[in-house]
Amino acid sequence: MKICLICSEPIPEGEEITVPRYRREPPSFIHKSCLWMKLAHVCQNREYEAKLRYLVEYEERNKSDSPREFSEGTADAAWELSDVKLAPHELKKLKDEHLVSVILPARRPYYCLTSRELTKKFLETLEKPITTPGEKLKIPDDLFETIIGYDDIKQLFLASLKADMPMFRHFLLIGPPHSGKTTFLLELERIPGAFMVGGESGPTRVGLRELILSVRPKLLLIDEIDKMDKVDREFLLGPADEYARTSVVKHGEIRSERLNLRIFAAANPPKSRFSPQFLDRFWVIEFPPYSRDEFVEIVRNLLMRRRGLEESLAVRIGEEIWNVTQSIRDALRVAEAVKAGLSLEHCLNVMRKYRR
Ligand SMILES: Nc1ncnc2c1ncn2[C@@H]1O[C@H](COP(=O)(O)OP(=O)(O)OP(=O)(O)O)[C@@H](O)[C@H]1O
Ligand SMILES: [Mg+2]
Ligand SMILES: [Zn+2]
Repeated sequence: MKICLICSEPIPEGEEITVPRYRREPPSFIHKSCLWMKLAHVCQNREYEAKLRYLVEYEERNKSDSPREFSEGTADAAWELSDVKLAPHELKKLKDEHLVSVILPARRPYYCLTSRELTKKFLETLEKPITTPGEKLKIPDDLFETIIGYDDIKQLFLASLKADMPMFRHFLLIGPPHSGKTTFLLELERIPGAFMVGGESGPTRVGLRELILSVRPKLLLIDEIDKMDKVDREFLLGPADEYARTSVVKHGEIRSERLNLRIFAAANPPKSRFSPQFLDRFWVIEFPPYSRDEFVEIVRNLLMRRRGLEESLAVRIGEEIWNVTQSIRDALRVAEAVKAGLSLEHCLNVMRKYRR
């Protein structure tokens, strides 16, 4: 029975890669899927992806028709460290991850890719994006119109949405309650191809992957991402990275695919609940709490536009609520209570009395 060098499990017929070796060594084998996972792992680092591309190309250029003593697998090409543009530590890494094998142990050993064929196939899958790249988003003319203030941020988001850049595309909004985060996401949800999930309803990493691969949203909007399980959240490290990859199981094979996805996520502070790698993948925008003037202005606007109150009453509610709870939601609730027939005084008295 053939045992996998990587996972030590038996390998079914046809699933094995015969590790290239020197003829006097005993044969060894690796699951195709195990090597594939190693490739996916190593290629998360773009530099190694480039090294592997180079090695495939080098071997194809220099392969011989008569493999002589390196007679197993793809060992029709062999190279010394000095033949290829590889630092010793890079070679060591590729060897440790089983992507490169030693085929002639000597003082100056010869090496080759463990499977040039599979490496090549893997690298090809990285080039295919899951959704069509460069496709323009249909952005409503009045996007963000319901949001008061934040003009600089609206401008930033619009510029990003109209561009198609690898890094200028993921944003994490961190802000105190009622600072407008969900409102921003709801506006973004109007863009065709957007899909919103709430972190508190607990999409797991499996759920997120499923969603990304089946719905294929152009915009993934994640509200309350701080409520998501930390481990599940870290699934986004791949999709939110510059190389935008995720692994996919298709026809029993694991492939790594490139995504064309934008992520907008919202969270309450503190920022420290996110790992440095996680934060590093986003343009992090930290909303400060509203100043008194901003608060009153937002409440005035909302109560007039959305609750149909007259201006002086709207401003008064804004000023009064600022002195009590500073919550925009409270202002909205009180406005509704006033519309329902209560006096503003009554509402404010209840609010002050039953507050600890
Ligand atoms: N800048 C703003 N423009 C318009 N409405 C706003 C703004 N800021 C807050 N609001 C209003 O305040 C209420 C709460 O806002 P929103 O739900 O966006 O807050 P949030 O930041 O998501 O808060 P939480 O952290 O509690 O989820 C909504 O009714 C929203 O319309
Ligand atoms: Mg919210
Ligand atoms: Zn294995």
